[in-house]
Amino acid sequence: MPYVTEVDLAHPTEDSADAWWRDAVVYQVYPRSFADSDGDGVGDLAGIRDKLGYLELLGVDAIWLSPVMRSPMADHGYDVADPRDIDPLFGDLADFDALVAEAHEREIRVTMDLVPNHTSDQHAWFAEALAASPGSPARARYYFRDGRGEGGTEPPNNWRSMFGGPAWTRVTEPDGSLGQWYLHLFASEQPDLNWDNPEVSDDLARTLRFWLDRGIDGFRIDVAHGLAKPDQLPDMAHNDESELLDSAEGDPRFDQDGVHEIHRNIRKVLDEYPGSVAVGEVWVDDDERFGDYVRPDELHLAFNFRLVQADFDATAIREAIDHSIRAVGRVGATPTWTLSNHDVDREVTRYGGGAVGRDRARAMALVKLALPGVAFLYNGSELGLPNADLPDEALRDPMWERSGHTERGRDACRIPLPWEGTEPPFGFTDGKSAPWLPIPTDWSGLTVESQLEDLDSTLTLYRSALELRAKHPEFSGAEIEWYGSPSECLAFRRAGGVICALNASAEPISLPPGTLVLASAPLIDGKLAPNAAAWLV
Ligand code: NOJ
Repeated sequence: MPYVTEVDLAHPTEDSADAWWRDAVVYQVYPRSFADSDGDGVGDLAGIRDKLGYLELLGVDAIWLSPVMRSPMADHGYDVADPRDIDPLFGDLADFDALVAEAHEREIRVTMDLVPNHTSDQHAWFAEALAASPGSPARARYYFRDGRGEGGTEPPNNWRSMFGGPAWTRVTEPDGSLGQWYLHLFASEQPDLNWDNPEVSDDLARTLRFWLDRGIDGFRIDVAHGLAKPDQLPDMAHNDESELLDSAEGDPRFDQDGVHEIHRNIRKVLDEYPGSVAVGEVWVDDDERFGDYVRPDELHLAFNFRLVQADFDATAIREAIDHSIRAVGRVGATPTWTLSNHDVDREVTRYGGGAVGRDRARAMALVKLALPGVAFLYNGSELGLPNADLPDEALRDPMWERSGHTERGRDACRIPLPWEGTEPPFGFTDGKSAPWLPIPTDWSGLTVESQLEDLDSTLTLYRSALELRAKHPEFSGAEIEWYGSPSECLAFRRAGGVICALNASAEPISLPPGTLVLASAPLIDGKLAPNAAAWLV
């Protein structure tokens, strides 16, 4: 008996004309690594603008820009010194406006990252806090606390930073004495804001309006599950290093009930701008608690990372899909799908690397793009890029230093994109300066140029898939129905009619009945190859 997953995508408060994002394909641009227009080896806004034609050709509905605001770049932009200005490394506000305008002309929406959990230690507020005394209003915008033990030499609690080491750093007081400690869930250059302080929420509202008034279509909310901290900041039950960005149940650093009021306030501002959208970064495993973030008066969308965490295994993938749909179905919200981003290994590498990893990543692209809801696509996935092997001296992620060189961090998935030519920098930059991370010399077969006209390339597969998904009514409908399938395989049907079959077994399998419209690999005697997926109608 086929199993039907019930889900209702109608969100009571959303006018469907404004909910353009409900079945969108959103392309994540990691600006440092996308395209460099000024030859300094780091990507920038003008570089992105130059490539809008490419994104139009690819067929994406929207882009999400990782942070481009003023930042000393201790965490490559996720340490914001001024949330209402563009960092000179990326350009200026005029470049930003030009990018948004041209994207809109091409019918591509633009969304951007916001980082409300913390600021940079170079933010004016933090400088004020350091210059002020314990107990002052300037310190109350952050978490400053006295240390524990004799002379306050121990951190105020046992929380660990997500990048390694303690989540507290001790400051020198204005009089030169060793003083209080401040909280930072990430690097010490990223002090956590105190969201109980109304100045903090007022400032975010100002930032939201600042960008919305400039025509931005929405935001990705960084660490959306971590903004509220529990009263008294109790110790963690376990003092283990958590896996990067993942949060365990009961971890006092994340998913506190108080976070929902913050999201309601964000939503109120966005509701003043019909058609705008907020998607939260929510590393919360429990389906019900996850769904709470996308209740009708909270965020529109939340990243569900279950597909990122699933191995290339039919049971694990099916469970990830079911959980993702159920988590939001309860509150009538839209599911989201993502295979990778700038924080996790690229899917080609996660699925085993080499030709097998690439085949599996291609197959999973078809699975993801057949599902109901919003599909996020990390720049370079469409080229089938793997992680790169980097020598120690090339590593730039703060995790590398903070972990005492035990965690290599995320640089391997952030390599600049190869656009053209046969050797690095493959058109990413003009060659005056080296790219900020070295591009592997053997990526000439992965460039946009080499894949554009190649009918078998991953880029062509993505272009075909996006075109089919956009144009055909078979890709409509909120429900999926699971079909019976051979072991280690899965097949589902969208209400609109498209069927997606995935073969994660070692043998070719028969396709479900229907007309084949796209396959991630050539059929073998009419059968679906191992590590491949197909669409049928
Ligand atoms: C999540 C972001 O995706 C990651 O890149 C960043 O390091 C942390 N939040 C801290 O802002």
